[in-house]
Amino acid sequence: MLRYLFLLFALSGQVLSAQNALIPQPKSLKINNGTLPFSKQWTIVVDQKSKEAVYLKDFLNEKFKWKTNVAKQAITGIPAIYLKLNKNIPENAYKLTIAKTISIEARNEKGVFFGIQTLIQLLNENDDKGKLPFLTIDDQAGDFSWRGMHLDCSRHFFSADFVKKYIDFIAMYKMNSFHWHLTDDQGWRIEIKKYPKLTSVGAWRSGSMIGAYSNQEFDNKKYGGYYTQKEIKEIVQYAKDRHITIVPEIEMPGHAVAAIASYPELGCSGKQIDVEKKWGVFEDVFCPKDETFTFLENVLTEVMDLFPSKIIHIGGDECPKESWKKCAHCQDLIKKYNLKDEHGLQSYFIQRIEKFLNSKGRNIIGWDEILEGGLAPNAAVMSWRGFEGGIEAAKQHHPVVMTPGDYCYFDHYQGNPINEPFAFGGNTTVEKVYSFNPIPKELTIEEKPYILGAQANLWTEYILDSKHVEYMVFPRIAALSEVLWGKKSSYDEFQKRLFNHFSLLDRLGINYSKAIYEVVGKSQLPNGKNAVTYSLKGFDGANGIYYTLDGTLPSVHSTPYTGTFTLDKSATVQAIYFEQGKEKSKVFTQDIFVSKATGKKVNLEFQPKEKYSGMGAQTLTDGIVGDPAKFGTDWLGFSGDNLVATVDLGQIMTIAQVKINFIKSNENWIHLPQKVSVWVSKDGTNFNLVQEVNQSYVAKQLGKLNLQIKPQEARYVKVMAENTTKIPSGFAGAGYPAWLFVDEIQVD
Ligand code: ACM
Ligand code: ZN
Repeated sequence: MLRYLFLLFALSGQVLSAQNALIPQPKSLKINNGTLPFSKQWTIVVDQKSKEAVYLKDFLNEKFKWKTNVAKQAITGIPAIYLKLNKNIPENAYKLTIAKTISIEARNEKGVFFGIQTLIQLLNENDDKGKLPFLTIDDQAGDFSWRGMHLDCSRHFFSADFVKKYIDFIAMYKMNSFHWHLTDDQGWRIEIKKYPKLTSVGAWRSGSMIGAYSNQEFDNKKYGGYYTQKEIKEIVQYAKDRHITIVPEIEMPGHAVAAIASYPELGCSGKQIDVEKKWGVFEDVFCPKDETFTFLENVLTEVMDLFPSKIIHIGGDECPKESWKKCAHCQDLIKKYNLKDEHGLQSYFIQRIEKFLNSKGRNIIGWDEILEGGLAPNAAVMSWRGFEGGIEAAKQHHPVVMTPGDYCYFDHYQGNPINEPFAFGGNTTVEKVYSFNPIPKELTIEEKPYILGAQANLWTEYILDSKHVEYMVFPRIAALSEVLWGKKSSYDEFQKRLFNHFSLLDRLGINYSKAIYEVVGKSQLPNGKNAVTYSLKGFDGANGIYYTLDGTLPSVHSTPYTGTFTLDKSATVQAIYFEQGKEKSKVFTQDIFVSKATGKKVNLEFQPKEKYSGMGAQTLTDGIVGDPAKFGTDWLGFSGDNLVATVDLGQIMTIAQVKINFIKSNENWIHLPQKVSVWVSKDGTNFNLVQEVNQSYVAKQLGKLNLQIKPQEARYVKVMAENTTKIPSGFAGAGYPAWLFVDEIQVD
């Protein structure tokens, strides 16, 4: 009995050592009895020429500095890794066995390649253990056929060598699609033989924005670069060898400034313009005239010659309609084809390009704006402004790739902004990515298969070099890969595996974020008390967290966190996660404000959008003032609607000051309110206006209002903020409802 108990113990120990670091985790892993001594010399045995064998050999020799050969037969004394094709194994699957020898079997080379990725992770994980556990892995991709990553090479340019490295990252996680964003306002990056000015002119701008968009500062340094067709061919082959399809994106009809700067006749006005130095959305877009279509068809012909992908991305997002409204040709087209408006013209544009690509045996995919004015008959949709566009497309039985910003935009912050490099905004933590489900619950069984999969997008306005790209991608790519490969576990279990997986990233010299160690804090739903109830969570739950409230840096001598605590006065919470006395996280800091309104009930006349609804109305009195860098949390976001919030202080008291904050982030469609007013009442029915300010005042205060009022008695305080119902022309998202982001009403 004792012997069996011991065996069970030993086995369960081994289960852990083989499943500790695999990402994405395999469908099935069985530990068998026995171990294989570890070796840094291997023979990869294949019975025919195999690119996969060469890939594995090069990987182990170059990255791990081992000695590995490829041979037709095993060599005595050197352990063997067999790579075998086996038609009995299904598509997208492989079987990996570790016994006296190692073998990977699959139906085809792609399956073998997946198995190789798992083997590399197993070898790394067990390198310091002196042996490999006997095991059998049966693994197969889940339902998602699109497991992708995107890279914007226009806003910043990355070398052909780095693009290959990026493809290696995608391969590491058994993902299969690379969306290469090659053209945009700030630079055209693909050589087109027929139109040399696209790269002699369009690939270069005379400067770039420095720092935050709101600073409007520029460096005035010539910046640019492009990929030659020779380089592109090499990169396409490199990706193919890794079983990755490159989906090139040629943006139209908007985001076309670099093209129009090269050939001004492509725009409506014919005016000479410059390649953009600024980030954003611009009014100069392609004019839908015959010459433009000839140009685009010629460009796409060269693109198709370079990229074998069945799907070509034609952009379609953020196309302002101002120049079309002013253009006689565009207006004539609207009349001629009986189109409803400029959205109809955008739809005409996309459909005409679709027809051309379809005639060459290719299909289009576009950002979700291509739904507006009517979807092209065979188009796939990339849903980026949330899930809605994808839901609508799937309901119309069109293929969909999900890339909703909150989960898939890796240009967002992944940790506390003060500890992170400057980023676009948002708050897309590893945990958030891991919680992503690409299939919306709104879809029926019949509609769900239209969701091909998902991808993360990396826009590079604020990402200047390849090390920073790595930082934004890792480790979020690991979380996404597991979502897409299809077998998820709890986040806590994933996080432990990720922690072990970091040793592979270290070994490969990848620059990754350690934000998962950070402490995060959360205020709890107020319970009627005039106080803030606050909780902390670290890498190991509540364990290992020490915190202070007096502004001093926490140490292991500070208060150990044991659970939720309550503050009835303003304070600054600072917390650090320690492991065995060693500081593992940067400091987490949160100011808590307790005012007369804190914890009090709030009534909202209009509701915020669900994804920006925090804890509901009570978010406005939870003691936390939202951080403008993270509009994903702690803020209420209203789309088009006004804020009408009434705080019930519970009893009549003297008040003399009301504070409230707004975000200005016009590039994210977030605008300051047109007007803010404060009203007070003793009975909740009759309100008196006590303060009113306009937008320019709010702008001068940078969105942070501290409104003094004549000291008076009141029980109810109503704050009204008038949204910019429609984004004005010249701004990103012109014509759409603006967002109004509001947080924390403080009354004293
Ligand atoms: C996008 O982020 N404009 C697709
Ligand atoms: Zn025009």
